[in-house]
Amino acid sequence: MLVLGLETSCDETAAAVVADGRRVLSSVVATQFELHAQYGGVVPELAARRHLENLLPVISGALDQAGVRLADLDGVAVTQGPGLIGALVIGMAAAKSLAWALGLPLAGVHHLQAHIAAILLTETPPEFPLVALVVSGGHTNLYEVRSLMDMRLLGRTRDDAAGEAFDKVAKLMGLGYPGGVVLEGLARAGDPAAFPLPRPRIPEEPLTFSFSGLKTAVATLVKKEPALLHEMQSRADLAASFQEAVVESLTVRCLEALRRTGCRRLLVCGGVAANGRLRQALGVLSQAEGFRLYLPPLSLCTDNAAMVAALGWHHLRAGRTLSLDADVFARG
Ligand code: KG4
Ligand code: ZN
Repeated sequence: MLVLGLETSCDETAAAVVADGRRVLSSVVATQFELHAQYGGVVPELAARRHLENLLPVISGALDQAGVRLADLDGVAVTQGPGLIGALVIGMAAAKSLAWALGLPLAGVHHLQAHIAAILLTETPPEFPLVALVVSGGHTNLYEVRSLMDMRLLGRTRDDAAGEAFDKVAKLMGLGYPGGVVLEGLARAGDPAAFPLPRPRIPEEPLTFSFSGLKTAVATLVKKEPALLHEMQSRADLAASFQEAVVESLTVRCLEALRRTGCRRLLVCGGVAANGRLRQALGVLSQAEGFRLYLPPLSLCTDNAAMVAALGWHHLRAGRTLSLDADVFARG
């Protein structure tokens, strides 16, 4: 069964063809970050307009790469939310039109569940239950996943998402947008213990994340000592110290979630799961604590439509189709 997936929730326009929810025949991603870089963050109106321009070529590209025609498709899946409304609407309109014109069933998927479903596209997908950390530019959510359709939220951030913190700190260090990957590059040459940065904890809510205090601590340091940013080594040290504080905040809570649920499997996914230091720290932890660790390859961590098609296939198989008057949603 061939499913065409579409993803337009934020600043990537993506289309993919996936067979039987398992085999990626194609996955095309048109990123917009150069468009938003000059503004230091995603501008929703510009994102929506760019999705409109990019979507049809991206869909054609995905069909060509997969070597299939529209008539070969068995279903269409689209990200319904959460995300930027104007951006989501473009993908939804295209998906509805295709489904209607081709007489195909339509699946509307949850963006965060799709990040989790990305792991199903790897060689050895996990069994359930598992603990999943979805860590991206918009979310930092811990779930107990009993099955793809049955997830319980264990904890989330009370302020910034981890990826947002990476982007904001990168911006105040003058590293551009999106900052995560650039900051990681800079941190490689730095000492993670150079600057003692806070690791906020809320004792009565051990699974709740908080990153705004960390971001403020970096901003205060830089304000007090602007020279920090002019010297290569201190820039690298600051990047490494910040990254280490984020990594520790994430790993500590993953471990706590595993303890509380009794799960022995941990999945970490979403854009920040592409971070090499986080992947390394999780690897060490899984060895020491004896749990199985699942990390999607980098191309499946950041936004893509293969994960949307994979989850969409499960929706369609379960008969969970979307009617043509269904709407998108920003939060939830
Ligand atoms: O999942 P994603 O592509 O989009 C959202 O749904 O938000 O995640 C994007 C986020 C951005 O904040 C970006 O800075 C962060 O993931 N990111 C990284 C890395 N690659 C992407 N953060 C840290 N290290 C990375 N290597
Ligand atoms: Zn995402």
